[in-house]
Amino acid sequence: MLDTATNQPVLPPEIARRRTFAIISHPDAGKTTLTEKFLLYGGAIQMAGQVRAKGEARRTRSDFMQMEKDRGISVSASAMSFDYGNFRFNLVDTPGHSDFSEDTYRTLTAVDAAVMVIDGAKGVESQTQKLFEVCRLRDLPILTFCNKMDRESRDTFEIIDEIQEMLAIDVTPAAWPIGVGRDFIGCYDMLRDRLELMDRADRNKVAESIEINGLDDPKLAEHVPEHLLDKLLEEVEMARELLPKLDPQAVLEGHMTPIWFGSAINSFGVKELMEGIGAYGPQPQIQSAEPRQISPEEKKVSGFVFKVQANMDPKHRDRVAFVRMASGHFKRGMKLTHVRTKKPMAISNPVLFLASDRELAEEAWAGDIIGIPNHGQLRIGDTLTEGEAIRVKGIPSFAPELLQGVRAGDPMKAKHLEKALMQFAEEGAAKVFKPSIGSGFIVGVVGALQFEVLASRIELEYGLPVRFDNSQFTSARWVSGDRAELDKFVNANKQHIAHDHDGDIVYLTRLQWDIDRVERDYPALKLTATKEMM
Ligand code: G4P
Repeated sequence: MLDTATNQPVLPPEIARRRTFAIISHPDAGKTTLTEKFLLYGGAIQMAGQVRAKGEARRTRSDFMQMEKDRGISVSASAMSFDYGNFRFNLVDTPGHSDFSEDTYRTLTAVDAAVMVIDGAKGVESQTQKLFEVCRLRDLPILTFCNKMDRESRDTFEIIDEIQEMLAIDVTPAAWPIGVGRDFIGCYDMLRDRLELMDRADRNKVAESIEINGLDDPKLAEHVPEHLLDKLLEEVEMARELLPKLDPQAVLEGHMTPIWFGSAINSFGVKELMEGIGAYGPQPQIQSAEPRQISPEEKKVSGFVFKVQANMDPKHRDRVAFVRMASGHFKRGMKLTHVRTKKPMAISNPVLFLASDRELAEEAWAGDIIGIPNHGQLRIGDTLTEGEAIRVKGIPSFAPELLQGVRAGDPMKAKHLEKALMQFAEEGAAKVFKPSIGSGFIVGVVGALQFEVLASRIELEYGLPVRFDNSQFTSARWVSGDRAELDKFVNANKQHIAHDHDGDIVYLTRLQWDIDRVERDYPALKLTATKEMM
């Protein structure tokens, strides 16, 4: 049943109150700080600083994490749940670095919306733009938080114009900043006619909120110094005239983004942003799947794996599959069908992620993210259902853009290396190809930094020093099509043929010209740069 006003399914209240989203931003814009404040207001942590403190403790455990720290990037992604007001928020963390864009892309298949954080002094930066484009591919609704307003920042109209122009999306101000830098005192809430005043003395204090009866309310002058008030009145008037009004439907369709201004470190604007996600962010959405789509209100439980993380705890070789629940009401202990292998799986110890602690999930509703510990049965793209053979679509595996050969430092350890590589391939951390001629493996990644991460993880998690060498190949395509033609092609191109970790045939190449030639000479074959994971 569809709600005629919103064209959205009418959901049971438990599902309708869920908001599952990710934060996209350029490194340093304030994603970690904002996450920390979300968790603080959500009661998931007691004290700001805990996410970071826990992060530090975790990082010191390994060189890999040390690398993450040195480079100021967040390599691994995870999911966090917390309640605020009537809403249950599921925040899925995305790696901000472009070298992990594939991982990010997959993560974004598991959310219904994104919060875009920009730095008020820097505006739209390169990484923000890239991640935004990924969101656009999926028409994800975007809510914007312009951070660091306590510092010198750009003119408000200029920031809004830049977003509109660079990202081609309508921007509507949900709040209007008052004063700049040292003079910044808070925001005028454009949606609810309220004044939100920042407390610089106490960074964890929620802003003071004052009801205002429109812009000519004398109360404004009591709280806003005269030199700021004139500018505020002029700007808000101009904004109301020149900028589009909030259109909730346009937000849900991804054509318009409301923008809040604040300072995450001073806890300012965060509460308003959370309320905004609740009010204007989408409820759990329909998932495209085959042979039919899945609607969140369906009684039967289904979900799909969008991320696998191995060795989260190096002491236990566990793997956690992150599953986005697509429909129904899941209860711990349920038996679900693993659609790819058609085997039943009893889900007896699913976990929920509260801040960075894991907790047994007794239940989960459509929209939630649960972690399922397993021994490798669950792969990215797998669907779990109560029996029906449905497969969630759209979780791609991209052709790598950089290829290198990899060898174990100790040649006796080749088998171990193979095991480690397969593990990472299943996790989606890299593509691993076994060439049909010769020994060794070729590893493919999207960004060069992934090689470094891989080398340190193999060493750390498997005790295997490895060496990467240049490969003669620079690109790879998956090949499919008519069986006889495929055999003919494989026999004639042995030097170029490899198999990926699923055993699928891959054509390794140096030049686009080679690909064009194959397409011309073997019209019955299909060469693809992405492969849907299943
Ligand atoms: P990221 O995850 O997007 O990379 O950013 P993160 O939250 O780590 O923030 C990057 C830096 O910006 C941090 O400073 C953080 O304290 C600061 N920051 C975040 N929000 C605000 C804000 O509203 N105002 C101001 N002025 N600064 C903000 P750092 O010096 O790199 O780290 P730290 O020593 O403060 O931990």
